[in-house]
Amino acid sequence: KANSELKDFLHINDFDKDTILKILDQAAEVKALLKSGEKTYLPFKGKTMSMIFTKPSMRTRVSFETGFSLLGGHAIYLGPNDIQMGKREETRDIARVLCRYNDIIMARVFAHQDILDLAKYATVPVVNGLTDYNHPCQIMADALTIIEHIGHLEGTKVVYVGDGNNIVHSWLLLAAVVPFHFVCACPKSFEPHKETVEKARKAGISKIEITNDPKEAVQGADVVYSDVWASMGQKEEAEHRRKVFKGFQVDEALMKLAGPKAYFMHCLPAERGTEVTDGVVEAPYSIVFPQAENRMHAQNAIMLHLLGF
Ligand code: CP
Ligand code: NVA
Repeated sequence: KANSELKDFLHINDFDKDTILKILDQAAEVKALLKSGEKTYLPFKGKTMSMIFTKPSMRTRVSFETGFSLLGGHAIYLGPNDIQMGKREETRDIARVLCRYNDIIMARVFAHQDILDLAKYATVPVVNGLTDYNHPCQIMADALTIIEHIGHLEGTKVVYVGDGNNIVHSWLLLAAVVPFHFVCACPKSFEPHKETVEKARKAGISKIEITNDPKEAVQGADVVYSDVWASMGQKEEAEHRRKVFKGFQVDEALMKLAGPKAYFMHCLPAERGTEVTDGVVEAPYSIVFPQAENRMHAQNAIMLHLLGF
């Protein structure tokens, strides 16, 4: 059920449109405050956060830790060898212990069920920092970036080119809440989960298209978006995927087809020369670095919301 009172941030469409837009507004406000050099806004003073990582990370780790500390709190990094989730200890035990120390828990895990279990057993808010299924904080940051560059998300055309992965699922779940035009162009049998596509379509909010033709898909795009072809946990498939995904590289020619107003976005890390060319990442229409910066601002607002500020 979508409502503004939920304990956890696990999927964008758990929340209603007003709440998502309010969080994005607050992200912009707190971003402006931090940019102004203001150092006295410390809502997280005396609060602590555990950050569980079973996968590598740069942006998620550094943006959560930095954001939480800039707002007065203290964040604790727990890497794959510290916790050994499900191996050294069961997820439900980890959840019930950590919430006795910490005010909030952030986690990046493989199986989506692990984040659901953490949320179920922890009495404090749990924030999803990426699972094999979705990456909601990333797409909140992306929405903030689109609003900053285009002025609004509603009505824009976002064309994702590549693997129908966790990033695509979060785009679809955002499209179930806020109206825009979302297109996923991916090779056959690399489409996003059917149920998630259905969920987004059923919401009846946004225009959703899944296609195997990137050249047609990008026409009239406001944003062309790309991500790695082999996600964390799939790296042994990388070579095979490079063959199957031929024709899905975002290069200068594809950006030309998108038209002069199109921005390029990528959640990063990017493999230049694979899913995107170096020239596209470095082009003036590429907004990948402001996008990465916005991870921190979007997450600050998500945590402020969950902690009742
Ligand atoms: N985009 C993103 O989540 O980056 P990291 O894997 O570096 O955290
Ligand atoms: N789809 C990528 C996103 C990385 C931020 C992965 O899961 O590895």
